[in-house]
Amino acid sequence: MKPSNSRTRLVMGNWKMHGSLQTNAVLLDAIKAGLATSPVVGELALCVPYPYLAQAQSALAGSAVSWGAQDVSASAQGAYTGEVSAAMLKDFGCTWVLCGHSERRALHNESSAQVATKAIAALAVGLTPVVCVGETLADRDADDVECVIADQLDPILALGAESLSRLIIAYEPVWAIGTGRTATPEQAQAVHAFIRRELAGEGAGEVRILYGGSVKAANAASLFAQPDIDGALVGGASLVADEFLNIAAV
Ligand code: 13P
Repeated sequence: MKPSNSRTRLVMGNWKMHGSLQTNAVLLDAIKAGLATSPVVGELALCVPYPYLAQAQSALAGSAVSWGAQDVSASAQGAYTGEVSAAMLKDFGCTWVLCGHSERRALHNESSAQVATKAIAALAVGLTPVVCVGETLADRDADDVECVIADQLDPILALGAESLSRLIIAYEPVWAIGTGRTATPEQAQAVHAFIRRELAGEGAGEVRILYGGSVKAANAASLFAQPDIDGALVGGASLVADEFLNIAAV
């Protein structure tokens, strides 16, 4: 049984580097049309590539779907070629920004300390950072899951209860991302419970914790039934309107 609290369920799509103006228009139209008949439990959101923020804004404004970006600069402005600031994301109506997705940690060597500075930059303009953490398969095989997650969380926990109350954590085991191999609900719950204990130690036990990694309509219900899973961060399945809506309707 879920505790009754303010942890409204959130299903957030992460398009990653997919899409085009044309395919996005079809997908966004299908999602909006589907909303007329498909119930959404809680909140629904999409994190799109930067160039498509304007498209997402004009398509989704006034709908039940909020939008955000997949990364943000730690700096407010200046000589940072190629970077995008949190204030720029606000200009396009973003509510959310992913910070420290495992693909950025792996491909761009983002450290947990850098991820925390990005979260601070987002919070400073009123964006909600969705801070991603998760272990690799090697970490899991070495029985190191809690150590790795604790290290990733440390600079975030140091932000203190007030900041923590304005962000979201996403647990995405790296070995479950894009592999079709979902963590079992029990595996995911165990890590979510650990993360919640860490947050509660800072006075922020009510922070929402999303699960990500091969979430589909077929496995969403058993994940969402876990007491510490407050929603999902959805990659591949967010590119298919029906599948995405079916996850949100579970
Ligand atoms: P998949 O749902 O494609 O496994 O991706 C998960 C993810 O990385 C979402 O951020």
